[in-house]
Parts: sequence; structure tokens; C-alpha cells
Amino acid sequence: MLFIISIFLITFGKQSPDPNDAFLNQSIAVMLGGQQKHYYDNNVVVHSSTTNQKNHYSSISPDYFDDDETTDFVEQLQSYDYNQDINLNDLRVSRIHSDVNKIEIIPLIIPEGNMSNYAVKKYLGEGTFAFVQSGIRLSDGLLVVLKQIKSKYLWWARMEAHIIDILNEEKKSSIIKLVDMYMNNTSPVLVFEELENSKTLDYRIYSFYHDLILEEIKRFYFQLFYGLSITHSKGIMHLDIKPQNIIVSNDDIQIIDWGVSDFYYPLKEYRTRVGTRHYRAPEQLLHYKHYDYAVDVWALGSILASTIFKKYPFFKGRNNDDQLLQVVKVLGSQDLFQFCEKYNIKLNEKLKKTLEGYERQALENYIDENNRELVSPAIIDLLNKIFVYDHRIRISAEEVLQHEFFRE
Ligand SMILES: Nc1ncnc2c1ncn2[C@@H]1O[C@H](COP(=O)(O)OP(=O)(O)OP(=O)(O)O)[C@@H](O)[C@H]1O
Ligand SMILES: *[C@@H]1O[C@H](CO)[C@@H](O)[C@H](O)[C@H]1NC(C)=O
Ligand SMILES: *[C@@H]1O[C@H](CO)[C@@H](O)[C@H](O)[C@H]1NC(C)=O
Ligand SMILES: *[C@@H]1O[C@H](CO)[C@@H](O)[C@H](O)[C@H]1NC(C)=O
Repeated sequence: MLFIISIFLITFGKQSPDPNDAFLNQSIAVMLGGQQKHYYDNNVVVHSSTTNQKNHYSSISPDYFDDDETTDFVEQLQSYDYNQDINLNDLRVSRIHSDVNKIEIIPLIIPEGNMSNYAVKKYLGEGTFAFVQSGIRLSDGLLVVLKQIKSKYLWWARMEAHIIDILNEEKKSSIIKLVDMYMNNTSPVLVFEELENSKTLDYRIYSFYHDLILEEIKRFYFQLFYGLSITHSKGIMHLDIKPQNIIVSNDDIQIIDWGVSDFYYPLKEYRTRVGTRHYRAPEQLLHYKHYDYAVDVWALGSILASTIFKKYPFFKGRNNDDQLLQVVKVLGSQDLFQFCEKYNIKLNEKLKKTLEGYERQALENYIDENNRELVSPAIIDLLNKIFVYDHRIRISAEEVLQHEFFRE
């Protein structure tokens, strides 16, 4: 099915001194299947703080649900035996942190808690699974974000809470801080420390309004890859790394929305339609179910490339197969076919035909007048180590931290 997308500009009057609000002047509405929503690009919804209307920070966007992701694509996953003996040298097992999780983890139970300890300040927005409000903790005045998850997603809330709880053992990392949780009636609420004056990263790297200087890019991405290295070392995959799930203030950056995150188990099968298309790794686009932590590195690498080259998003596919094609146009056909052969990934003939005949492009080809000051041999080298089909050869988050790009 094809969506007809028409784009037009809407102007908002604004007098706020916040430079990020320049965005509000250039928001784009996208007509999607007849329903008008306020987006810029075909991806993100504008946070319109000037109106009292319901302020959606995300919605069912064309990226979240592929246009080829119809009911006829049903992914069958085999059940997993947590007690089996596994040969960790198996090609289908992650190269790193493969046996962190020894037994099946039962997500924690959200306690009744004490709701009257919080006062709600402002409605921030609503997504598919939750709505988010800002608030204040009455006992000490801490500014918080209250993420209230719909009751039917209780299990996911328990997973999200469990995962962030584990990650927060590491005090100084770029991972959102979970400070409390409670049940509001039948809906679980996760309470996060608010990152004040923050915007999601897409506000800072969208090509219309790119205000990050190289020094900030290095500092922020070092923190993000550090966050991922911690995450992976604890046996967890984020699985939805995208600019909308990273919040940034002047001096701090955090990875949020751990709602689809999961624990890694060797040889376990994972859903390949998880996360957001533009940031999906090739192994996911190929529906290879034994993927691992390396998908997060690919996603963050795509965002880094987007930031450096001011091309947003860096790989922009219209559906799952087209996304793969966009990647192949840069990384080439030959390595893809070798990768498929090595891991015994079957490609149907029709798709194979479309993916044939592309040479690997030098990333230098993306240099232009707008981004020249951000590009260096070191960043090209780093991106070349991230943009590798073979997830077992792709650089890990921990290795990224050692890269020259962050030292020069
Ligand atoms: N700690 C925080 N500090 C400031 N703002 C935050 C914080 N946590 C979340 N937000 C804001 O709330 C929004 C929604 O948070 P989050 O992505 O966790 O909810 P979600 O319902 O899972 O989102 P989605 O529907 O996209 O999956 C974010 O995009 C961000 O703008
Ligand atoms: C946005 O537009 C208004 C009027 O159209 C203008 O006064 C304001 O300066 C603009 N804001 C930014 C940040 O560009
Ligand atoms: C809940 O929190 C409120 C406000 O901080 C406090 O007055 C009350 O005693 C608490 N109730 C319980 C049961 O802990
Ligand atoms: C509890 O949920 C209701 C809506 O169901 C919401 O309006 C309210 O702000 C929530 N309160 C707290 C303290 O989370």
C-alpha cells in the first residue's frame, strides 16, 4: 500500500527566546491517509508548546508501522529454552556479552506506591503506549516526568522499569533516571528525573536547524556510546535507538524510552520489526532473528552520520525492503550477498534482483558545503567501522569509545 504524502509549511508565531523554537516556525504538516497530523519531515510531531491542545510527541507514524507491515507479515518466533547448553562460539551468538543472562528474568512488579507524593504540572504528550506528564515530587521538590502506561501494556511497563532499574546501577551514564514507580488505578506510572530544558535530539540535528558544533557532537556521542556500552555489558539491548528517544539539554544527554528493550540470550529469536525503520540494522531488515547488541550500534551510527553530514535521516527508506536498498546503495551489493551466505540468510529472488549491482560508496561522497567543517578522516573511519553488514564484525559500543574520533 502506498501512502500519498503531501507536505506543506505552517507558520507558528513565537516570541520565545529559546533558539530551538525556530523549529516551530518551520513545522511541516504531513497528510497521511487523509488524516492531517502535525509533523515535520514524515516522522516527528511538533511539540507545540504554544497551544493548549493535546500535545502529541509521537503518534502512529509511517516509520513505526511499515507500509508493507500489513497483516500478512506475521513473524513466528520459536519458544526459547532458558536451560539449554549453548556453544558460545556458534556463529549465531553475539561476539560480546553473550552469556550475561543466565536464567529467565521475570520483570519486576510495579508496587502500589504512593501517588499522593506527586503533583502533576503539565501534560506533555501521548504516544501509542503511554502518556507523559511533568510533575513534582512533593517531599523534596524534585522535578519529574510521569510516564503513565496504558494498563494493557502492564507487562511492557514492568520490563521497562526492570531494565532501567538495572541500568541505573551505573550512576553516571547517559541513561534516563528512574526514581520511583506506582500504580495509578490499573495503570503503571514510571517516575523519571526530569532533564530540564531538554529537547529530543531530532530538534538539534534536523537539517533545517542544525546547531551542534563538533565539540558538542563529540561530547554527546561519547556519552551515548558510553550509555550503550553499559547497556550491552549488562546484557540488554535498547532496540529503539532513534533521535526521538534521545533527549538533550545544554550539557547533558540521555537515552529514554526503554519500552521495547529486551534481555539478550544466545540463540534466542527476536522480532525483526521492532524499532523504527530508518535506524534498523541490515540484519533486522533481512529478518535475521538472532541479532544482538550490534543493532543499537548501527542505529546510533546512523544518527551520528546524520548529524555529521546534516542528512536527516541518513538512510531513508519508504518501507522495509526499500530501507535495505538505501543501505545497499551505500554499502554495496557484494558484501551484502556474502553476509547472507555466511549466516544462511535467504533472500527471495525478486528482492535479490533489486539489490544487485551496487558498488560500495565512499562516505566522502556525502561531503558538501553544509557539512564540510564537521567531517574528518577520523569520523569517516569510525562510520566505516559501524556501517558493516556483518554484525559480528561491526565495531562494538565499547570499542567505539576508544576510537580516534573522540581523542583528536
Ligand atoms: N526525563 C525526561 N525529561 C524530560 N523530558 C522527558 C523525559 N522523559 C521523557 N520526556 C519527554 O516525554 C516524551 C515521551 O517519553 P517516552 O518516549 O519515554 O514515552 P513513550 O510513550 O514510550 O514514547 P513513544 O510513544 O514514542 O514510544 C519524550 O519524547 C520527551 O519529550
Ligand atoms: C518565528 O517567527 C516569528 C514571526 O513569524 C518571528 O517573530 C520569530 O523571530 C521567529 N522565531 C525564530 C526563532 O526564528
Ligand atoms: C504519601 O505521601 C504523602 C505526601 O508526601 C504523605 O503525606 C503520606 O503520608 C504518604 N502516605 C503513605 C501511606 O506513605
Ligand atoms: C492518574 O491518572 C489520571 C488519568 O487516568 C491522570 O489524569 C492523573 O494525572 C494521574 N495522576 C498521577 C499522580 O499520576
